[in-house]
Amino acid sequence: MKKDVPLNQAKWIIEPGCVVLVTGGTMEHANVMTFSWQTPIHTSDPCMVLLVVNRVRYTYELIRQNNELAINVPGENLLEQTHRVGMVTGRGIDKFAESGLTPVAANVIQPPLIEQCAGHLECRVIEIHGVETHDLLICEVVHASAEEEYFDGAWIPEKFHTLHYMHGNKYGLLTRRVEAHGMR
Ligand SMILES: Cc1cc2nc3c(=O)[nH]c(=O)nc-3n(C[C@H](O)[C@H](O)[C@H](O)COP(=O)(O)O)c2cc1C
Repeated sequence: MKKDVPLNQAKWIIEPGCVVLVTGGTMEHANVMTFSWQTPIHTSDPCMVLLVVNRVRYTYELIRQNNELAINVPGENLLEQTHRVGMVTGRGIDKFAESGLTPVAANVIQPPLIEQCAGHLECRVIEIHGVETHDLLICEVVHASAEEEYFDGAWIPEKFHTLHYMHGNKYGLLTRRVEAHGMR
């Protein structure tokens, strides 16, 4: 079951630098694309994350219609779908139907969440900065949730493997948590 995550802890859902699936649009008309260029930039009041998007992406066109997006965290079980929706555009095809990813209503934003993903950040775009062909989207997280079996304030890699982009069709997995004891 997914539990709500307090916004001052929401950044831990994407902190391990994992690949994410971003959804834009509405329940009636949505699209999904893969992102590896993402990072938390502010922990709380508000919690903010940064996404770097190429302006040509169809998902970005939908995001700009309501300035809302969902960041969904896939696990190893969604490797093929994650790669696929990052290789083809949703212009002219329904990537949800094609990949088997299931859109479900979000808590507070219009774009859907992806049911099979283990964590979700619901975001509103609050600032945009252009750099060459890309836009830097500063997003405020307005709701967060994560699968309680896999997330105890951080992902539990012994139970859930986030995906980490390497190159081409290669991804790495986080499989083990270790603790440093020198300083807290
Ligand atoms: C692992 C991976 C990571 C990606 N990261 C980004 C990214 O951070 N920003 C971006 O603009 N595109 C990124 N892409 C490319 C888009 O996901 C891809 O162009 C996608 O097909 C766009 O779909 P759309 O046109 O339906 O929106 C990535 C692709 C893969 C496979």
